[in-house]
Amino acid sequence: MTALPTPSEPAFVQRLRYLRDPIGYMTKCQHELGNIYMLRLVEPGMVFVSTPELAKEVYLTDEATLVAGEAKIAVFGKVLGDSSTLLLDGLAHRKRRRLMLPQFRGELMQGLAPAMVAACERTLRALPRTKPFALHPYMHQIAFDVISQSLFSVTPPGRRAALEQVMREFATRAVTSKLLMFPHLQIDLGPISPWGRIVRVVAAARTALLAELEQRRRAPITTATGQDILALLMAATNEDGTSLTDPEIVDEMLTMVAAGHETTSMALTWASYAIYTRPAVLAKLRAEPTEERPYLQAVIRESLRFHSVIPNGSGRVAKRAFQLGGFDVPARAMVTVAFHAVHRTLEVFKDAETFRPERFLETKFSPYEWVPFGGGTRRCLGMPSALFELGLVITELVARIELEIVQREVRPTWRGRFLTPSRGLIVRALDRKVEPEQRAVADIHDPQVATVIQGDPPRHAET
Ligand code: HEM
Repeated sequence: MTALPTPSEPAFVQRLRYLRDPIGYMTKCQHELGNIYMLRLVEPGMVFVSTPELAKEVYLTDEATLVAGEAKIAVFGKVLGDSSTLLLDGLAHRKRRRLMLPQFRGELMQGLAPAMVAACERTLRALPRTKPFALHPYMHQIAFDVISQSLFSVTPPGRRAALEQVMREFATRAVTSKLLMFPHLQIDLGPISPWGRIVRVVAAARTALLAELEQRRRAPITTATGQDILALLMAATNEDGTSLTDPEIVDEMLTMVAAGHETTSMALTWASYAIYTRPAVLAKLRAEPTEERPYLQAVIRESLRFHSVIPNGSGRVAKRAFQLGGFDVPARAMVTVAFHAVHRTLEVFKDAETFRPERFLETKFSPYEWVPFGGGTRRCLGMPSALFELGLVITELVARIELEIVQREVRPTWRGRFLTPSRGLIVRALDRKVEPEQRAVADIHDPQVATVIQGDPPRHAET
């Protein structure tokens, strides 16, 4: 028996320290306890692994031992429904992933690019030009517009605006609610009670999606602007010829709203910080020809490595006691990969504390070394679309805008379950004088598609 090392301080102190400064605390624990250790953040414990080798061991462990869906269902089942890809396990999960994966194919994203550019242009135009402001709400606006575009681009404009309103409520009130972490406080005491509000927001979102399905079936939409994910899911079939039921489609749509824009908005804010604090990186991005853009892709990958939106992820529950990295993991423990630590492994990322995009041009890292999207059979379904979106938005941003970071100290801070720059990253914006040959990507703007994009201006915190 080799027990996992764990800090000597009481469980509540461990929780407090992890919540206050997750990266600082994880770094300290790794330094003092080694590459695998257990914190008492949940009962009977949460096991953190900090190297690519251990991450690989987690990702290759069979489902009789470690499961992913069950790890999340207690928290998200009540808002996403219990048949979402995120929450399924075993055969049901494999079958669903096979059905979902093709819906994220490149052509769909390419088809949506003009509308994504239009959404981006509109928000960049709205950036204040006279005084400092928090950048994150604007990135959030862009990310929400993009996910909405991917899911509902062919819904007629009026109906789409109403649908977006309900989805926005769902994303801001239900998905990020702290009540999800406290099952004993989840009591519906009517529409003005905290949990009662969430129950109604979720019900409204489900009703709106079911109504949209109904409308699309009654009057099929024909459009010159291509498909959206909702249309693809309605048409998709499993290998045995069966289709998704309506509640299953609704669960998947809610999952994509929940999983598909908070993370991206924070990745965009961190990437802006990384780029605009490094004039050489910015200059190189601006000088890169617009066709293939290997440097842009390298900057995005380096930003996701350097600034962890998710400090530790890929949560799995141990179905039985087992050995990991030579230590005993108790049954029911949660196992998690410390993404931040894996991305600081010196044998893999030499000069790991330096922001150096070129490393991604020199080396192809394995799926256990670069893990911002998790790994194994549960790796993020939205990874290709997220990388596409990040590339597109950053291209627009650097082509159009000069940003000055005016905030003196920028720390990672929790927003829900993710890390964002503290204060939303306070910046000052100026228009950039754009040379025509640098505008190739932005010029794919298509006004016909742009007219279906709706949305409120972001609720931003100007200072
Ligand atoms: C920068 C943006 C994003 C990051 C960093 C990110 C990260 C992650 C991570 C760490 C996981 C868990 C993987 C694991 O358990 O090993 C995950 C799962 C997932 N993500 Fe993302 N994600 C991003 C964007 C998106 C987008 C845009 C979508 C959809 C449109 C999406 C949909 C999903 C889904 C459906 C899963 C569940 C996959 C499964 O359990 O099989 N994500 N993501």
